[in-house]
Amino acid sequence: MRLSKATGAAFSICLVMAAGGVLMSGCSSGGERKEQAAAKPAGPQPLPEGMTRSEFGRTQEGERVELYVLENRNGMIAKITTYGAIITELHVPGRGGSKGNVVLGFENLDGYLKGHPYFGAIVGRVGNRIAKGRFTLDGAVYKLATNNGPNHLHGGVKGFDKRVWSAEPVTGAGGPALKLTCVSPDGEEGYPGTLTSTVVYTLTGDNGILIELTAVTDKATPVNLTNHTYFNLAGPGSGDILGHELKIDADRYVPVDAALIPTGALAGVRGTPMDFTSPMTIGARIAKVEGGYDHCYVFTKGTTPEPAPVIRVREPGSGRAMEVLTTEPGVQLYTGNFLDGTIAGIGGVYKKHFGFCLETQHFPDAVNQPSFPSVVLRPGQTYRHVTVYRFSVE
Ligand code: GLA
Repeated sequence: MRLSKATGAAFSICLVMAAGGVLMSGCSSGGERKEQAAAKPAGPQPLPEGMTRSEFGRTQEGERVELYVLENRNGMIAKITTYGAIITELHVPGRGGSKGNVVLGFENLDGYLKGHPYFGAIVGRVGNRIAKGRFTLDGAVYKLATNNGPNHLHGGVKGFDKRVWSAEPVTGAGGPALKLTCVSPDGEEGYPGTLTSTVVYTLTGDNGILIELTAVTDKATPVNLTNHTYFNLAGPGSGDILGHELKIDADRYVPVDAALIPTGALAGVRGTPMDFTSPMTIGARIAKVEGGYDHCYVFTKGTTPEPAPVIRVREPGSGRAMEVLTTEPGVQLYTGNFLDGTIAGIGGVYKKHFGFCLETQHFPDAVNQPSFPSVVLRPGQTYRHVTVYRFSVE
């Protein structure tokens, strides 16, 4: 029963991919069956109900990369690769029971290896920017890799988005769950301490993808992990996201300079184009925001021990809605301002504003901003960040 259900799910996904003109060789439930049949007791763990696994490709260094497909009891599907712990596809309900993918990404590993702006990835060890790639911690000055002009962005040249994570299926509370682990050695990209990070992706029974991030270190180090999925609730490649209606429970945001480095202040959103405290389309005032939205919002709720609801997005055309719950104090709203039509992925060519990110996190450059909540993790402490993206149809 279990095997046939998983096989059926993988088969229907293959059909979807085949309909999109994709070669089916990389999407074979048969491959997984062979892997299971050949497995000795010490071989790969049997997969739980609602999960399949196949090879997604190999990195330039020849490292094997896998693709896991998770399906909940309502037929919501997440495809997750061990490369960058990336969510490559997320199929959620639409009107009339039809399901559709709502994230930007690629059908194969090659798309990711060619370079992309963090589609679906876990970014770290510190997501967002660190001014001049420098900080002082416990009296020592650290110089990080700089990869965004003079600044450090999303963990550096080879951040967690470009690492192959090890994967382990786990039993989630609500449905199928996958745990991925990445060990970042002392000194990587200039950061102090060996940092072991994990992400558990769980598909919940109420059509959420729950993302639980944890990390431990052996030396004090800054940590600010986030998921960088680009959403388009009408489907990737279907046009821009300017008609999506957004509500963010944040009455302040983090003003930045021309290089997107915080000035150190927190500013009120009321009466400005930054105000999403009442539902408003993303496009209504975007022309008044230089470059488009690429700002960290400060949730009115602050940091919470368990995920609290903070954001709601609606896309009137598809009738889809997404709610975001998080433990984090902030979220980077990024409206795909740098997408320029040079990348084609699932659904077609990705042009400016064809996707938006809601990267839940601590505030950018916190390690250089004494008034921002600290992102320093010390030995003996555990970093924990839980975010849920939950989908419904109106
Ligand atoms: C983040 C940043 C943006 C941009 C994207 C990736 O959201 O804030 O400025 O770098 O990642 O293109």
